[in-house]
Amino acid sequence: MIDLFDSKVLGDTVLLNNRIVMAPMTRTRTSEGDVPNELMGTYYGQRASAGLIVAEATDVAPSSNGYAMTPGIYTQAQQQGWRLVTDEVHKNGGKIFVQLWHVGRMAHPSLMPNGEAPWGVTEEKADSQVFAHGPDGKLGHIPAGQPRRLRTDEVLGLVGTFTQDSINARKAGFDGVEIHGANGYLFEQFMNSVLNTRTDCYGGASVENRTRFLLEVVEAAVRELGPGRVGVRLSPFGRFNGIPADPLAEETLMYVAEQLARLGVAYLHLVYELMPEANMEVAEFKSNHLDHELLARVRKVFPGAIIWCGGFVDREGAQEALDSGLVDLIGFGRPFIGNPDLVARLKHGWPLVEADRATYYTRRGEVGYTDFAEYSV
Ligand SMILES: Cc1cc2nc3c(=O)[nH]c(=O)nc-3n(C[C@H](O)[C@H](O)[C@H](O)COP(=O)(O)O)c2cc1C
Repeated sequence: MIDLFDSKVLGDTVLLNNRIVMAPMTRTRTSEGDVPNELMGTYYGQRASAGLIVAEATDVAPSSNGYAMTPGIYTQAQQQGWRLVTDEVHKNGGKIFVQLWHVGRMAHPSLMPNGEAPWGVTEEKADSQVFAHGPDGKLGHIPAGQPRRLRTDEVLGLVGTFTQDSINARKAGFDGVEIHGANGYLFEQFMNSVLNTRTDCYGGASVENRTRFLLEVVEAAVRELGPGRVGVRLSPFGRFNGIPADPLAEETLMYVAEQLARLGVAYLHLVYELMPEANMEVAEFKSNHLDHELLARVRKVFPGAIIWCGGFVDREGAQEALDSGLVDLIGFGRPFIGNPDLVARLKHGWPLVEADRATYYTRRGEVGYTDFAEYSV
């Protein structure tokens, strides 16, 4: 039986000290130019006892900027900033992947280069909100902008962008990359059979076409970094960010899992339900109830590690999920915010601190970010 505190080798390449993954979480603490900074180094360094940290969603290009103050990895300054983070995590014995992100239509002209329209799979606007400058110039939640449909050559160009950013991730000291195919951003916009009505090789009814963009990006990352350093996050049944319910979601998931197996990627990171809204209690979010049937099917075709994330709050729940034999690693998001020493707390059954949601995404620097103490007995 696998224990939550057993080590795990990802793809014969990256040794994790335990089965606990810190899930990617946007915290909007960057400096000017979307550059990661020392404060972020401290934050991630404090949490390095996780077996694996997946750093927050990170823009692959200026066109991907859907939320103010989120980091990028396409400029030298950003890569140098990330060095502060990766060095700190490695110094403290941890491993860290970066989540490579393109928001697609989940953006707004006020955040886009030269005020241009967000990039979309089609011209259909998201019925959702982004964090951007409103008409009054102030930052806040405003409706997503009207997207412009990407041309075929632009999609191909984005494959090149992700390839370069995988190389940038290595330069910045990351142990690997996670391609963000979840939560209603660009890859999910392409994979969704209702939304993707394109008629080129990246669209339409065929699952091969809808997943082509994601798989080309993954293939390129594998070529640059090696399969053991590449993971993919998916939310196959998620509806976050205005994603329509998709009758073909399961078929798409199974096809992608098979193709990721062919490419040999290290892990598949699944978030099952809706991403929780900031106002949802951790305990209300019950996706830690595994879908055994579905996971057994994925397991059959995908031999890499499976990370299951969402709603875990204690050692018992996480261990129960591992005991099912259907998953290999357990993702914890919100519990890592208030508990930098979450691994020790889970191990010893120490109480968890609930972070204040008002500090999840904020400019208020260390408040609610790096100011949580380790548990003292
Ligand atoms: C503040 C916050 C920021 C998040 N940012 C991201 C992100 O950048 N990328 C992503 O894939 N998911 C993001 N998520 C979703 C989490 O990774 C995770 O899937 C979700 O919180 C459920 O796990 P939990 O119940 O352990 O919190 C975010 C969640 C929160 C609460």
